[in-house]
Amino acid sequence: MPDNPTTKHARIRSLEEYHEAYRRSVENPEQFWAEVAEPFTWRRKWSKVLDSDMAAGRNEWFQGARLNITENCLDRHLASRANKLAIIYEPNDPKTRHLRLTYRELHQEVCKFANVLHNNGVEKGDRVCIYMPMIPQLAIAVLACARIGAVHSVIFAGFSATAIADRVNDAQATVVLTADGLNRGAKQIPVKRVVDEALETCPGVRRVIVVEHLGWPVHMHEGRDVWYHEEAEDVPKTCPAEEMDAEDPLFILYTSGSTGKPKGVVHSTAGYMVWADYTFRNVFQIEENDIYWCTADIGWVTGHSYLLYGPLLAGSTSLMFEGIPTYPDAGRFWEVIDKHSVSIFYTAPTAIRSLMAAPLDNVLSYSLDSLRVLGSVGEPINEEAWYWYYQHVGKERCPVVDTWWQTETGGIMISAMAGITPSKPTHAGLPMPGVQPVLLTQEGKEIEGNDEEGYLAIKHSWPGIIRTTYGDHERAVQTYFAPYKGYYFTGDGARRDENGLYRIIGRVDDVINVSGHRFGTAEIENAINQNQNVVESAVVAFPHDVKGQGIYAYVICRPAAATKDKAHIEASIIETIVAQIGKIAKPDKIQIVSGLPKTRSGKIMRRILRKVAEGEISNLGDTTTLLDPAVVDEIIEGRK
Ligand code: WTA
Repeated sequence: MPDNPTTKHARIRSLEEYHEAYRRSVENPEQFWAEVAEPFTWRRKWSKVLDSDMAAGRNEWFQGARLNITENCLDRHLASRANKLAIIYEPNDPKTRHLRLTYRELHQEVCKFANVLHNNGVEKGDRVCIYMPMIPQLAIAVLACARIGAVHSVIFAGFSATAIADRVNDAQATVVLTADGLNRGAKQIPVKRVVDEALETCPGVRRVIVVEHLGWPVHMHEGRDVWYHEEAEDVPKTCPAEEMDAEDPLFILYTSGSTGKPKGVVHSTAGYMVWADYTFRNVFQIEENDIYWCTADIGWVTGHSYLLYGPLLAGSTSLMFEGIPTYPDAGRFWEVIDKHSVSIFYTAPTAIRSLMAAPLDNVLSYSLDSLRVLGSVGEPINEEAWYWYYQHVGKERCPVVDTWWQTETGGIMISAMAGITPSKPTHAGLPMPGVQPVLLTQEGKEIEGNDEEGYLAIKHSWPGIIRTTYGDHERAVQTYFAPYKGYYFTGDGARRDENGLYRIIGRVDDVINVSGHRFGTAEIENAINQNQNVVESAVVAFPHDVKGQGIYAYVICRPAAATKDKAHIEASIIETIVAQIGKIAKPDKIQIVSGLPKTRSGKIMRRILRKVAEGEISNLGDTTTLLDPAVVDEIIEGRK
């Protein structure tokens, strides 16, 4: 790779090099990251590599540097890779033609979109919300925002109108980018109509730019809505990149926490860029001719860092898939791999589990010869799924990298580097250079030694660390930096095995992970409580064969609802959740109860509710502090 960060510090090629890089990254982080950052395109170099006060949640990387991330994703590659494929788009319907964009073409398309944004009054620092299907224009739109210094906030195109409105208003966005419609498997979603509904409560939005994708008729709101293709007719194919400060925000991405409404995680420019690039190259051990496919939607952080920014920064070819693993059948992933000769494949355990359930022929009838590396992300991968993936997809020849990280960490934190550091089923493995994980007791004492379990926290700043939560820095401090002073707190529990490899056990807070999507139990309860039949609710997770965790909701209804049919009430509650959050938050089980187990001080005993949801009723633990033990008997009696 000629003009990329391939100095010996940026690319690790052996276990010894890993240990050496790790040691240097801990002993002298500033020098280490300065060397990694050196080969990027900078308008001006930094004056200080790191200025960090973890307790205050203040982390500044490459202070004083000036750059534009799209010059590093695009312009930088034009000298040697102009005709190399940057993006391969595989549509939802295999009968529709796929599309390929070279680096030169992608550069032009991004410049055109950036000019359209400019012409529509978007300026540096403005927030732009994007609600689009997984089509090339989504990638282009995101990069176009970055080109002109606008802060993008992508909202997964499965969220409801209410969820969009919350995010648009929280980010004080003035412009929304969308499309006419979306196909996902056999489903069709009129995304523009969903946006229209959302914007009824978003007075700050003055412009909606609509990409034509399916040719569906849409209502264009006079004075507010414009068609992208009309706006793009005469715009120039070049657009100067806005010079940004290293710490200028690059994007906001909303994610659920253990309390209340989702928070806007903010990432900044230079640190995120260096982190996404470094982790991408090393974890996947990228080579020049790889065809790389990350199945995540750009609406999630995995799509940001490892479909878009990481691969483009590295000058790789990234495949973008509009559909789902099971459409038109459970062989689709494997068909796409053979069709495009995919060499690196990165997906989520939930997808693997859903495909395992289909007859094995679905995978065995494809060659999968092009594959070299397999990745997993988003939730713990159970042993059965790991082996199925390794044997039937990787043919026991491809290393599996189980990558642990979070929206807040910007990029992969703990993972094997393919073929280099150990890959052990159900273990993420060793930390990336620059990442100093610790296990803490509940009181915050570091647990030394191996073969131990505790709360997972990170000791030192790393370039991709969350900078703030949009509009509310105190919330970021309280969530991540205040629980254990001097550390970033992950909210996950972990185990360090006898060889120092990390295994992520799962969340230790009230966050549940359904098919790799994070939800706060409070967020779902708030939605349920909006239903007119409901007085109170409590949501817990239970183990689910495909989704990893399922949602179990206990609901107390109003007396007036007593005469209504239970099935009717349940359907109505589901409707409310779909309207408030989206289909992805639909509970698997709803149990209507007359009371919830509470302590004398009024606190819901979730431990008991979890046990009942898991079916572990013989082992409820200590119930002596319960206000009314009869409630528990009733709940057990009626459990689903
Ligand atoms: C979980 C996704 C086990 C974890 C990149 C974390 C994982 C949350 C793994 C973040 C993994 C992610 N093994 N658990 N390899 N990857 N998680 O923000 O609980 O959507 O805290 O980021 O997913 O989810 P998020």
